[in-house]
Amino acid sequence: MSETPPPVVPLPPAGPCRRPSIAPYCERVRAKLSPERFAHVMRVAELAEAIALANGFDAGEKRATCLAAVLHDVAREESDARLLELAPPENDLEREHPMAVHGRAGRRLAEAWGIVDERVLDAIEGHVFGPRPGDRIGMAVYVADVSEPGRGFNGDVRDLAMHHLERAFRRAVETKVRYLTSRGKRVHPRTLQVHDELTHPS
Ligand SMILES: [Fe+2]
Repeated sequence: MSETPPPVVPLPPAGPCRRPSIAPYCERVRAKLSPERFAHVMRVAELAEAIALANGFDAGEKRATCLAAVLHDVAREESDARLLELAPPENDLEREHPMAVHGRAGRRLAEAWGIVDERVLDAIEGHVFGPRPGDRIGMAVYVADVSEPGRGFNGDVRDLAMHHLERAFRRAVETKVRYLTSRGKRVHPRTLQVHDELTHPS
């Protein structure tokens, strides 16, 4: 006798997706991504919200952080052709690796969905190469993306972000540059610029 499989119960909205003003974006993002990627996005959004809380963000900054975290990978599963259409390449690295433009392409999609808050748009764009140092919302999203528990690494960055967001951001960028360099991989010029600004602040 075959057993009847249990009914599929949709997961209740987690973290920031409980906010009525953000929930519709969670559903739109869910429709564009694989379940695995969407689960990553939910972990990033929960962690970004926790980082915002721990670092004393005001209510507006918290909401912007949550919304940017929910939207950060909205373009991550677009085709190469669509990515380059949304965000024309600005250098050889982007031409050869269209996935590199998914932050800028995500910004375009968010704009098309009516997002006008520059803090949110900058954080979506900045999550790939790093936001401007000092952009707290961008740093919270960047750090949450690289250190969410599902990654299985950067736990030290995650812990540090609960006390010193800027230090956590610096460590995350340094770790990334060191990792890519040690494997002989090119580092995007924008990441190098952020790295330089962090290590030699003017
Ligand atoms: Fe991500």
